[in-house]
Amino acid sequence: MAAPKVAIFFNLQLVLMKAIALSAQSERMVREQDFLVSKTDLKGIIKYANQPFIEITGYTEQELVGKNHNIIRHSDMPGGVFKLLWSVISVGNEFFGYIKNSSKDGSFYWILANVTPSFDTNSKIVGYYSVRRMPKRSALREVEKIYATMLEVERQYPNRKQGAQASMDYLLNFLAQHGANYEEFINTL
Ligand SMILES: Cc1cc2nc3c(=O)[nH]c(=O)nc-3n(C[C@H](O)[C@H](O)[C@H](O)COP(=O)(O)O)c2cc1C
Repeated sequence: MAAPKVAIFFNLQLVLMKAIALSAQSERMVREQDFLVSKTDLKGIIKYANQPFIEITGYTEQELVGKNHNIIRHSDMPGGVFKLLWSVISVGNEFFGYIKNSSKDGSFYWILANVTPSFDTNSKIVGYYSVRRMPKRSALREVEKIYATMLEVERQYPNRKQGAQASMDYLLNFLAQHGANYEEFINTL
């Protein structure tokens, strides 16, 4: 009697593992009309998320608000991109960039993000605001190549911080060779 039960258990486990593996590979698409909005405090803790943002992440609003924005970080994203993002917004400038994010079920989605600081009446930064839109598919092919190289650069360092610095330097160097900053470069793709 025990044998069929064991077999059913392992079959179920196999089906479950296949489903997880499939969802990890599946891509969610941002619709053309969507604006995915989030607001954070100075440390990147989510304070607000709009409905299209909540929907695509697969989390509930309660699960998102109060969490660090890295809750949706995808492992294909180089640390160097986020190092650049923070170095730009923390001094009061706006950042544009392609970001691959992870949904709760393991699927992924690409977005073109604009991240801006929010200022108080004394021009002091009090938080950050991000609006994301549907990415250009042709640009993603180029961006994926650059990010893959950045990840390779990062793997050469035992320490995450050093890796992120080195891959950001790689990106800045790459952009300098193209005579553009990141925003100008992605507009050419
Ligand atoms: C307004 C704002 C929006 C952000 N959006 C994202 C995002 O969509 N995806 C993401 O992975 N990180 C985003 N970040 C950056 C995260 O805060 C974090 O730096 C990044 O996920 C890397 O986290 P980690 O180094 O702790 O893994 C955002 C930060 C801010 C301030």
